[in-house]
Amino acid sequence: MELTLEDPKPNKQNEMALRDATDRDVQAMLEVMRAAFVEYRKVLDPPSAAHAETVETVRRRLGRGRAVVAELQNQIVGFAFYEVQSDGLFYFSRLSVLPAFRRRGIGLALVEYIEGRAAEANAPGVRLGARVQLPHLVARYEKMGYRITRYMKHEGYTQPTYVYMEKIYSRA
Ligand SMILES: CC(C)(COP(=O)(O)OP(=O)(O)OC[C@H]1O[C@@H](n2cnc3c(N)ncnc32)[C@H](O)[C@@H]1OP(=O)(O)O)[C@@H](O)C(=O)NCCC(=O)NCCS
Repeated sequence: MELTLEDPKPNKQNEMALRDATDRDVQAMLEVMRAAFVEYRKVLDPPSAAHAETVETVRRRLGRGRAVVAELQNQIVGFAFYEVQSDGLFYFSRLSVLPAFRRRGIGLALVEYIEGRAAEANAPGVRLGARVQLPHLVARYEKMGYRITRYMKHEGYTQPTYVYMEKIYSRA
């Protein structure tokens, strides 16, 4: 079938691309993280350490682990750090999507990319940390197959402030 002028044209430029981050992405990742986490300023107790990240801390994290970035038309619109923990599970953190690009599956695609990397590496599963104060996020991860495995407290707090959640593929 031929395309007519009225038909939407396939446009590769509008497709999202996912790839592992390099050192050149540090500044863009920092900007995406700041824009993503700004909604939690003066909301979370204790405040998210994301607000205190700098080019140096992002570069250091990238040095000891990896990150995935989501690009649209060569602009980084989302990312997450990930690393392998001592028990072999992949751990991801600072999952961030620019507010203007949310609710179109980019956050899910970033998590699925990390899950794919974990599966390729025969890791037993994937872990993340989520704030108890953000039950909608915990529920979202539950929908994605994650289960709460531990309740954790920040130093100086008497009640749990965050949880570890895991999606386990296999126990070696
Ligand atoms: C959490 C976060 C990364 C999600 O990013 P996102 O790209 O909006 O994620 P998704 O689009 O995959 O999913 C978000 C919602 O949009 C919905 N959605 C996905 N695609 C959709 C579409 N095409 N149309 C409408 N809704 C859609 C999902 O079902 C989901 O709904 P839910 O929250 O009710 O389950 C983003 O909100 C963010 O950066 N938040 C601030 C930082 C943060 O909290 N990070 C996580 C720390 S643990």
